[in-house]
Amino acid sequence: MKLLVFPDNRTLSQNAADEIIRLVRAKPTAVLCFASGDTPRLCYQLLVEKATTANVDFSAITFIGLDEWVGIPPSNEGSCHYFLDNLLLKHLNFSSSNIHLFDGLSANLGQECKKMDQLLEEKGGIDLMLVGVGMNGHIGFNEPGISFNNYSHVVELDNITASVGQKYFKEATSLKQGITLGLKHLSEAAKVLVLANGLKKAPVIKNALEGDISDKMPASIVRTHPNSEVMLDEEAASLLIKQY
Ligand code: F6R
Repeated sequence: MKLLVFPDNRTLSQNAADEIIRLVRAKPTAVLCFASGDTPRLCYQLLVEKATTANVDFSAITFIGLDEWVGIPPSNEGSCHYFLDNLLLKHLNFSSSNIHLFDGLSANLGQECKKMDQLLEEKGGIDLMLVGVGMNGHIGFNEPGISFNNYSHVVELDNITASVGQKYFKEATSLKQGITLGLKHLSEAAKVLVLANGLKKAPVIKNALEGDISDKMPASIVRTHPNSEVMLDEEAASLLIKQY
């Protein structure tokens, strides 16, 4: 694991966007798997600006959405689908047939998971996974206590996730389950970028990087990955003691 601390979220986001562009240029058929949420918002905006200016070609890239709220339609602004589409996917020249997002409305969620796992197997896994960290240490919807050995699965959401998740929705929304890639996908990804910014993430980042490596703190898995980068702004890094 490599730790990179940036003075602010803009610098962090610029560096993450540059890293994505480097990968897409080096491997135009790469498989990208990205989170939604507030953390990568600026990174995606900058990625769109930079990639558009530099004519970066995403037409042969496979894009995988990390997770989705079960029961929430893509038309809902709080859905991961809506977020990714509006901030990122529709602004770059992805081929629609190469975009794979979980259907949180599926009558057969188990089948949704199987489809995603099969696709990733066929594609040879994820080249670059970009994730945020939840206030309870989750990655995707891999909540505290979920095994590091899972592939895609349906999760009962933690109370913290259900209440923090309200920030994405215009009205109070019942959030009970999520569908998500598993931490085994993260372990097997060629490269992982974990982003965190702001003071509110400082305690969870300290726990993930300096506490035990345990399924109680899913984000701690990043320390076991040989090619992971944790990109923090100074606020999110402010409680760290160790020098990395
Ligand atoms: C969203 C996701 C979640 C978020 C996490 C942090 O697709 O996978 O794990 O990354 O909850 O959310 P924000 O970035 O809003 O603080």
